[in-house]
Amino acid sequence: MNCCVVGLQWGDEGKGKVVDILAEHSDIVVRYNGGANAGHTVVVGNNRFALHLLPSGSVRPNVNCVIANGVVVDPEVLIEEIETLAGKNITLNGRLFISENAHVVLAYHKKDDQLREESLGKNKLGTTIRGIGPCYADKVGRSYAVRMGDFRHLDQLKTRLQAIVEYKNKVFAALYPDLSGQPLSIKDIFEKCKLYAGKLTPFIADTTEFLHKAIAQSQSILFEGAQGSLLDLDHGTFPYVTSSNSSALGMPAGSGVPARVVDRYVGVVKAYTTRVGAGPFPTEQDNEIGQYIRDRGHEYGTTTGRPRRCGWFDAVAASYSAKIGGIDSVALMHLDTLAGLKEIKICRAYKINGQEKTFFPADIDRLCQAEPVYESVPGWDEDITNVKDFHDLPTNAQDFIARIEEHLAVAITIIGVGPARQQTIFR
Ligand code: GDP
Ligand code: IMO
Ligand code: MG
Repeated sequence: MNCCVVGLQWGDEGKGKVVDILAEHSDIVVRYNGGANAGHTVVVGNNRFALHLLPSGSVRPNVNCVIANGVVVDPEVLIEEIETLAGKNITLNGRLFISENAHVVLAYHKKDDQLREESLGKNKLGTTIRGIGPCYADKVGRSYAVRMGDFRHLDQLKTRLQAIVEYKNKVFAALYPDLSGQPLSIKDIFEKCKLYAGKLTPFIADTTEFLHKAIAQSQSILFEGAQGSLLDLDHGTFPYVTSSNSSALGMPAGSGVPARVVDRYVGVVKAYTTRVGAGPFPTEQDNEIGQYIRDRGHEYGTTTGRPRRCGWFDAVAASYSAKIGGIDSVALMHLDTLAGLKEIKICRAYKINGQEKTFFPADIDRLCQAEPVYESVPGWDEDITNVKDFHDLPTNAQDFIARIEEHLAVAITIIGVGPARQQTIFR
């Protein structure tokens, strides 16, 4: 059985936990989009892993891990992650496969990301400054791109980097004249690349071939989406999105595996909504309710530590994501976080120009005009963090789940009641 796990909101839905659980029955876990902008949390006993590039299956020693062609790899972050796991006696040797076609994030991408955001002032996108946009821009632009496979040919890479860094320095000097005294050093960048090559070359592979061989052997593959569908470059709330196809639609292009190989698309949502960075968020609660959710859910970014914006569950947005992703079942996380609220709201429609709409407008001009139309359900006070069976949940919590299920028209088969593996209800 092959599965694909994707976020149906603006990221941080709890994909890391869901992938970790499903990885128990998988042979391979594949990251196919994004880069170190992702922060996927996996909690195993007293250990809490925050993974940015390694697939969340990496903490399970028998699972093979693929970083496929669609990912942009920051070698520094990846090496640190491999070493952190090694420090906990979890080795990736012989079971990590990084696509030779995956593009490489280098220092000038991160610098570009930072300068661009600074120059935008109050109009900034609120990126993670991990160099994601600039690296994907170089991928599309082709002339100045570096791919993981280039680490196998350091002499050629040195010549190419010479041209690339010269070009980048000219661009930085022209756009940011205040910085022209601090050009990037080709020598420093190349020396780092030599180091990266030494550590990462053993893992570089043709991951498309690897995956197709696995499919021929009926191995079980789990695809792990990063970010969320509403941050998808084509289908999200552009320009307040990331630079990859972070919905399920990114899976085939990002891995070289056709969409029909996946038997089950699992969408992950929180029982409320969060967003980090700028952009429209119709159900945002910039008030004591948002703060209550942030405090109880520890809603601070895994990658940047920024406080996450919090609001009510938006069924218009999540059902749009479920539709574009062909979602077969949903994992509803953080149900425990809502305990103690008298009333819980679900946005069932938007009012735009006096008309009710239930199909999400990704166009931000229309989205900015959307007034959420809510329905309310009564809350519950019970601590549900140890509940194992759906029928042991408070009736109000069961009713809340039933309402969301009806709005999404997809079965909720996994319910998260805490960060740990065992704090999960299966239906
Ligand atoms: P991801 O990016 O989708 O993998 O999500 P993050 O790891 O960035 O953020 C999710 C956070 O919620 C992490 O701290 C998880 O440990 C935590 N978490 C996941 N599921 C649950 C849940 O059901 N309840 C609670 N309280 N925490 C959860
Ligand atoms: P995971 O995989 C939440 C957001 C950033 C910013 C926008 C663009 O952990 O769910 P980028 O650095 O990608 O150019 O930033 O996208 N963003 C995320 N928000 N979770 C993520 O990943 C995110 N990755 C990027 O906050 O608004
Ligand atoms: Mg995250």
